[in-house]
Amino acid sequence: MFILQALPLLAGCAWSFLTEQIPLPASSLQQPLTPQRHRDRPALRKLQGKFLHITDVHPDSFYKAHSSIDSACHSDRGTAGILGAEMSDCDSPITLVNATFQWVKDNLKDEIDFVIWTGDSARHDNDEDIPRTEKGIVDLNRMVVHQFVEVFGKDDNLDDPDPTNDFVVPIVPTFGNNDILPHNIFEPGPNRWTRDYADIWRKFIPEAQRHSFARGGWFFTEVIPNKLAIFSLNTMYFFDSNTAVDGCDSKSEPGYEHMEWLRVQLQFLRERGMKAIMTGHVPPARTFSKQSWDETCWQKYSLWMRQYRDVVVGGIFGHMNIDHFMFQDAFGLKYNNRGQLQDLEARERNATDPMLSIQSKAEYLTDLREGWTSIPTPPSGMSYSELAIDTDDKHILKKATRRKKSQQDKEKKFLKDIGGKWAERFSLSLVSPSVVPNYFPTLRVVEYNITGMENEHPAMGKSRPAAVEIDVELTNNQELAPLSAASVHDVMDQPIQEAKHKKENKKRKHHAKPPFEMPEPPSSTAAPGPAYSPQPFTLISYTQYFANLTFLNDEFETSGRTLEEYIGTSPSANKRSGSRVPQSQTFTFETEYNTKTDKRYRLADLTVRSYMDLARRISWNIRTDRSEHRVLDILPDVRVVEAGGKEAGAETGEKTDDDDDDLHSSRKRKKKHHKKKGKKGGKDKDGDALWHTFVKRAFVMTKTDEDMQDFDP
Ligand SMILES: *[C@@H]1O[C@H](CO)[C@@H](O)[C@H](O)[C@H]1NC(C)=O
Ligand SMILES: *[C@@H]1O[C@H](CO)[C@@H](O)[C@H](O)[C@H]1NC(C)=O
Ligand SMILES: *[C@@H]1O[C@H](CO)[C@@H](O)[C@H](O)[C@H]1NC(C)=O
Ligand SMILES: *[C@@H]1O[C@H](CO)[C@@H](O)[C@H](O)[C@H]1NC(C)=O
Repeated sequence: MFILQALPLLAGCAWSFLTEQIPLPASSLQQPLTPQRHRDRPALRKLQGKFLHITDVHPDSFYKAHSSIDSACHSDRGTAGILGAEMSDCDSPITLVNATFQWVKDNLKDEIDFVIWTGDSARHDNDEDIPRTEKGIVDLNRMVVHQFVEVFGKDDNLDDPDPTNDFVVPIVPTFGNNDILPHNIFEPGPNRWTRDYADIWRKFIPEAQRHSFARGGWFFTEVIPNKLAIFSLNTMYFFDSNTAVDGCDSKSEPGYEHMEWLRVQLQFLRERGMKAIMTGHVPPARTFSKQSWDETCWQKYSLWMRQYRDVVVGGIFGHMNIDHFMFQDAFGLKYNNRGQLQDLEARERNATDPMLSIQSKAEYLTDLREGWTSIPTPPSGMSYSELAIDTDDKHILKKATRRKKSQQDKEKKFLKDIGGKWAERFSLSLVSPSVVPNYFPTLRVVEYNITGMENEHPAMGKSRPAAVEIDVELTNNQELAPLSAASVHDVMDQPIQEAKHKKENKKRKHHAKPPFEMPEPPSSTAAPGPAYSPQPFTLISYTQYFANLTFLNDEFETSGRTLEEYIGTSPSANKRSGSRVPQSQTFTFETEYNTKTDKRYRLADLTVRSYMDLARRISWNIRTDRSEHRVLDILPDVRVVEAGGKEAGAETGEKTDDDDDDLHSSRKRKKKHHKKKGKKGGKDKDGDALWHTFVKRAFVMTKTDEDMQDFDP
């Protein structure tokens, strides 16, 4: 349940803030590089407005084709395919890793500006006959780094003394819970893993970040110098299953230090007019019955995202293997009388393990949906999508004056409930499914807004000092002076409850301060950030790709080609590259869906409001407050959409991009089917249909209509 009332305890935070300003004149930093300034350099690639998210590769050098999936694909005879055992708990054969990176090289290399690589690049501990070793984990991670070198390496730089100029685009790795031994257990740094990975990732970690990496395995990379930074969070320090650490509340914990580092860096980026994307392995999943982060870390993170909402573009995670998204809600936070963050709902939640049973995942997803029923419903005459089109206060107020007082009150309450006209109460985390074929192997390409930066280029060449290196001093906070009146509570309610605030501000002085520095909110004149309003760096859409191993393993077996020919690593390979037309006899990823062209999700962009609208539509027909809905306005009578964007029975005649991308359209066209009219009538049918689409995508199109009953309330 979301807590909608203002929380008096939140008022306890009248906070402090960095007084020391870093003397970096924003104007000089923001000057675009003109072509003249690098006339003597080789042609630099221009920004393409896309990046690749790759996660959970899980290579396994013990994988044996045609072995049994019951042996983790290590022995016996069975169905394990040459390119991987889809829909099993087996890890990825090296053939799949090679094929995947070859496909990236042939199809994505020139389209993307940077790579977000969210960890788990070693095999699971799933075979007691072959225990994992430190060397094994390190070797598999080096192998994946080598794949990146093969795809994105700059041949002429690879052997020079600077390890950080080796790639045509920046690559930002992060720790997964299986990149260490034993899995999940990451001690406070520096430790052998921060040392090992300082070397394994030496080509990726900017020089100026090595110190903080050595300290705790966290860093950030300016992928577009002076404009956009990607944070590599070490979520192992937030992860509930890491028994070597204990949350983010206590100063002796690395999670506390990590959050302090994050706060200070985000503050610097704000001063420099930069934006930031958060990335990590384990997402901040938190539903009624499950959660993946320690509660104190979840709360601090939600608070940080709230306070730096003018800086943060969004959060990108892996680990779960299932395709989904989640919100962080800053309203659910409070402090106890020792000033510590406390779980308002004070609930026992179980860990979310990506290898959990399908029942457990079904429970997780249905819990997620259940949680979305608390997302405030726009009163009639308003909608999230309308807010996205015209969010001018005057417009809303003008509309409001034409309505009854009760209607106006509803509209005001709605805006208050979602944190103002930009829905700034929430922040968003996107989780991509994995390469390891627990379902089908996947890749995600995200499109972001580069308006005004068309002539900029991704960071490459010698890494310049990234921001200013600072040491977070944990034992005193003297560099942080007390702040004016701003508090979380203030910013959450503005501007609707102005008057009430002033009263509360007085009371607030008497409350205890929490034992951490409250990040400063955006200045009162700051424009809403890229997560909330479309602008440069706003995430616009993503394309989810998948490789249908059922088809591909079979196709390879009957093709008579060598593996090198089939996956395209042989020079004579008949490549499908570039030309997005069906070509047989070659390994390929195909488009599962694109958030923008997809007729079901119909996401105009990936802002928080667009996702709130989607979440609300997915949960619509299990809500209890349905009276306000005009579901047909929001959700026209769309029909079942197959992977690749084929809409069965659609009469719109609208062609989507997916049609062009669809490499197996004839194969699919045969398979499409019409969904029968739901017994509960049209509206409920639509609600369930969108939910079922979401679930099928969560499991990368490996579930059938019959399977959907596991996901019904
Ligand atoms: C994978 O690619 C590497 C080169 O990147 C090659 O050495 C290796 O033999 C390949 N393995 C398989 C199984 O294709
Ligand atoms: C956590 O898991 C245990 C054991 O599977 C179960 O009995 C308990 O109900 C679960 N708790 C929640 C909150 O789901
Ligand atoms: C990208 O940002 C520009 C500048 O703010 C804006 O005008 C444009 O609508 C945005 N594009 C998208 C697709 O959101
Ligand atoms: C994957 O391929 C198999 C075999 O061709 C086919 O039956 C199945 O429908 C395909 N799945 C998807 C999601 O395209």
